[in-house]
Parts: sequence; structure tokens; C-alpha cells
Amino acid sequence: MHTLSLLALGAFGPLMASAAECTREFLKTSAESLVAAQKAGDPSLLKPVSDALVYNENFAAATFKSGILATPLKIDHSRHSLDTTQCATYTELISATGSKPYVLGVQMNFADNAVSKMDTLITTTGDWLFNATGTLNWASKENWGTIPEDKRDSRAVIQAAADAYCDIFSNKSVVVPWGYPCARLEGGTYTGNGGPNDKCDVGIPSGVALVDRHYVIDETVGAVSVFLSFSGIPDSHEFRVENGKLRFVHTLTVMSARGNGKSNGRRKLRGVMSPPPQ
Ligand SMILES: *[C@@H]1O[C@H](CO)[C@@H](O)[C@H](O)[C@H]1NC(C)=O
Ligand SMILES: *[C@@H]1O[C@H](CO)[C@@H](O)[C@H](O)[C@H]1NC(C)=O
Repeated sequence: MHTLSLLALGAFGPLMASAAECTREFLKTSAESLVAAQKAGDPSLLKPVSDALVYNENFAAATFKSGILATPLKIDHSRHSLDTTQCATYTELISATGSKPYVLGVQMNFADNAVSKMDTLITTTGDWLFNATGTLNWASKENWGTIPEDKRDSRAVIQAAADAYCDIFSNKSVVVPWGYPCARLEGGTYTGNGGPNDKCDVGIPSGVALVDRHYVIDETVGAVSVFLSFSGIPDSHEFRVENGKLRFVHTLTVMSARGNGKSNGRRKLRGVMSPPPQ
């Protein structure tokens, strides 16, 4: 009996191990294939993709064939977060110098070593504070690099910082771990100037619930991507956390989503937000 179970483990152990294994190298290669696919406008370059893929654009069911991935984009900047715990990735893509500007956020979830669920948020001209030139300018100046192992925050601390920020929109008693300096890049607008006095605790709206949160967390860079519903509007909030405190916040807010309606979304947002001070 003992021998038999050992034999069984011997036979199935390696298979099970390889299915469960999710390495940074694997996630990085897949996330880079996403960038290649988007550059070429060729979804088949994204690998490996599950036959049972669930694909959404702006939180609505979509297909690769008629979706953004079939449009070649000049990619000026891309950055990945790799989450080996959940086997997931987040990629920020900025296309500022092509024929039509875009800033995309993509969360991919993997099962059995293939992309099984993919959510793409697409912002372009007309979306909230959209300015791809501004996004590119500020995003490429920020340091989202690897944090030395002894200085890294735990996943729980990183997620708690993101949750506190998202919670304060509906609850002013929440204590947010603001870092100083800290800067928010919203659409293409920056709350700071890249200097030591940049602050994030300026102009936070109130009375709006940020719900249905989906996280991708990469402790090596202190990053957490949160896809959420901003009062019904598809939205991405991404945070860089250093020493438990917020350092950078990036947001994408999709005004033009199907069923949302640009004017409807604008009206909703105007009610709760005012553009941050320049
Ligand atoms: C977009 O951002 C760039 C760089 O920050 C800035 O020079 C430009 O004036 C902005 N455009 C608009 C329409 O705000
Ligand atoms: C608001 O936040 C405070 C501080 O975290 C918490 O004690 C309180 O329960 C929250 N209120 C609601 C309605 O969630």
C-alpha cells in the first residue's frame, strides 16, 4: 500500500507540479507576448491562450477578432506586474505617438499554464482627463523598479494600502497610508511635478463606491492593480506602495464603455470628481 501510493505520487507528482507551477519567467514571457500581439495587431501572437478563454473589454464580453488586439498600435511604453501567487499579470500599455492615442490596462489570469481570463480596459480621446502624451511623459519618469527583498511589503500590506485609498471615496474615516512624496496620474493629468513635495491627498471625491475589485499584486515592485466599478464606470486603479505607503497612483476611467454611454458617464463623474490641481 505504502509502495503503491509512492508509485502513484511518482507517476502523477511531476504532472501535477508542472500544472500548479507559476513562475515569474512564465508570466513575463506571456505578458511580453501580449505586447507583441498588440504591436502587430495579431491576437495569435499572445501565448499561451486557453481554449476556454473568457475575454472582456471594458467589462463587457468581447472577441479578439473585433477587439483592440486586432488593431496594431505603436507601443511607446509598457510595464508588467507579475503575480505568481494568483498566477496573473497586469500590463499598462501607452500608445501616444501612433495615429490614434490609447492607454490600455490588461489583467490576465492563468489556469493550467494558459491565459484563461483576460480583462482589457481601453481609454482614448474623450475619456476622463485622457492625454496619452501626458501619461507617457509622467509614467516614463516614475520609478516602478524592483524593491530590495529586505524592504518589500507583504501582499496583505500592499493590498490594504490600495483598499484604503479605494475605501476613502465612500468613507472619510478610513486612514490612508499616504506617502510623501506621492503622485497621482489620472488619465494624462498629474497631481505633482515629479518633485519631493508631490502629494496624493488632494481632491479625493466623496460619496462614491469603488466596488467589484479584482487585484493583481507583485510584491517585488510593490505594485497592485485593481480593476473595479467606479459607480458603474469601468475603472483601473494601480498603486505603487513603498514601505507600506502610497507612492504612485495610476487611473484609467472608461467613459465610452458599451451600456455606459459617454454622456451618462461624464454626468456621473462630474458629480463626484473635479480634475486635480495642475
Ligand atoms: C497633454 O500632456 C502634454 C504633456 O504633459 C502637455 O504638453 C499637453 O498640453 C497636454 N494636452 C492637453 C490637451 O492637455
Ligand atoms: C469607515 O471606516 C472606519 C475606519 O476604518 C470604520 O471603523 C467604519 O466601520 C467604516 N464605516 C463604514 C460604514 O464602513
